[in-house]
Amino acid sequence: MSRMVKVFDTTLRDGEQSPGVNLNVAEKLKIAQSLERLRVDAIEAGFPIASPGDFESVRAISEEIKTVTIAALARAVEKDIARAGEALKPAAHGRIHTFIATSDIHMRHKLNKTPNEVLRMAVDAVKFAKGFTEDVEFSAEDATRSNWDFLCEVFEQAIRAGATVINIPDTVGYTTPDEMRRLVRYIREHVPSISRAVLSVHCHDDLGMAVANSLSAVLEGVDQVEVTVNGIGERAGNAALEEVAMALKTRSDFFDASTRLDTTQIYRCSSLVSALTGIHVSANKAIVGPNAFAHESGIHQDGVLKERTTYEIMSPEDIGLTASRFVLGKHSGRHAFRKRVSDLGYDLPDQELQRAYERFIELADKKKEVSDLDIEALVRGELTGVEDLYTLEYLHVCSGMAAIPTATVRIVKEGRVVEEAACGDGPVDAAYRAIDRIIQLDSEAHLEEYSLRAVTGGKDALGEVSVRVTAGGKTYAGRGVSTDVIEASVRAYLNAMNKAGSDLKRVAIRSNGNNGLAAQ
Ligand code: KIV
Ligand code: ZN
Repeated sequence: MSRMVKVFDTTLRDGEQSPGVNLNVAEKLKIAQSLERLRVDAIEAGFPIASPGDFESVRAISEEIKTVTIAALARAVEKDIARAGEALKPAAHGRIHTFIATSDIHMRHKLNKTPNEVLRMAVDAVKFAKGFTEDVEFSAEDATRSNWDFLCEVFEQAIRAGATVINIPDTVGYTTPDEMRRLVRYIREHVPSISRAVLSVHCHDDLGMAVANSLSAVLEGVDQVEVTVNGIGERAGNAALEEVAMALKTRSDFFDASTRLDTTQIYRCSSLVSALTGIHVSANKAIVGPNAFAHESGIHQDGVLKERTTYEIMSPEDIGLTASRFVLGKHSGRHAFRKRVSDLGYDLPDQELQRAYERFIELADKKKEVSDLDIEALVRGELTGVEDLYTLEYLHVCSGMAAIPTATVRIVKEGRVVEEAACGDGPVDAAYRAIDRIIQLDSEAHLEEYSLRAVTGGKDALGEVSVRVTAGGKTYAGRGVSTDVIEASVRAYLNAMNKAGSDLKRVAIRSNGNNGLAAQ
């Protein structure tokens, strides 16, 4: 039997630190549910001291997810740790993850502390965290650029203070696979109490080696890998969960290690993370990229048709990418639709399910064949995570080579029907201007990114539009789906504006009502 390696997912903490990503509590909960179905061992749900939203997310996930360890991040200071402990109170298995930097460069320039002071803070932090939970992870930030002997000393003292997990972060993505292996070996040989703790690695991808470094550490016997879905994270991101998992599965002969993941949930989880964060998966991304299982060359196609394993080392089914089937038609009832959506791995509240069903019936009217991919895209388009403040009621655009593009949009805005028209550089621009006139957020909204893709092949394919909108200093991702690309564009923009509107409203209520959370 191969050795079990634990998967610690930090999509909701380090992943959410990706530039321009801002998930609300409901979106984080959806991702956490998907990670639970994927059967990760631990979910790092947030950094509770960082913001009231992070605190609420860790709380909500701790209340909801009971089969997975929930971790909360805290610097090695009491106020962070107490806040993490508070957020984790409802968790069935809660872990405080406390960290302090151990490299000379960080200690001198960032912390302005001596190595002895850092050692003391690490020990005190672990002891203090033990007052909230038995399970305490200690990370030595920038471990790979730290003095190895000092690192070993800090780890030994952290374990003696009660740390149950010892993590080696390659914070700036600096190390190499061979160096990582030697470092892990050194730690195992020079930290006398190391066998009492779970040994973990956490790799960043600045030099494109995060996955290789993580796998190298597995070869040297680490017990846990810290990863994010689609490899999202600070700067170039973190080690990608799907790449580490499928490398271990596909090359179990080489690594002699496995995870308890249900890899058939990978594709679904990846699509959800991409939809909610607004970070696209590139076409050639390993495992989950649109081209990962596509064969273009005639020789390859011929080979695969004769024998799949000639050019495929994994099968698409291993990650849950099943051939698109015709599942439902326009006569399918709500019950059948609900069942299909749930089989596809989505757990939607009634209001979102109802909207997705209505969109499905419209689509089934226009399109002869509605596939699972279409249904998933429709569902993703309805995942606002917030109650809709604005819903689209009517859209009319006029454009063409000799015409000035104009759009008329009617929106139900907080119970009132409001209509506006505008001209623009094109029909999408015109429609967005009309929407801006209707919505008028407290903070001006800026469209930062816009992209359009076809969900399936064929002229009647659904168009899926993704946008990123900034307002009030935050970025909001939006998605919209329709066979009409202008309508998809409008739905995507409204999806983002709904998130922005409800967030700005919450901020206003919080500062007027002072519910106490912000002040703590
Ligand atoms: O990259 C890093 O050092 C981290 C730590 C907080 C574990 O994310
Ligand atoms: Zn990190």
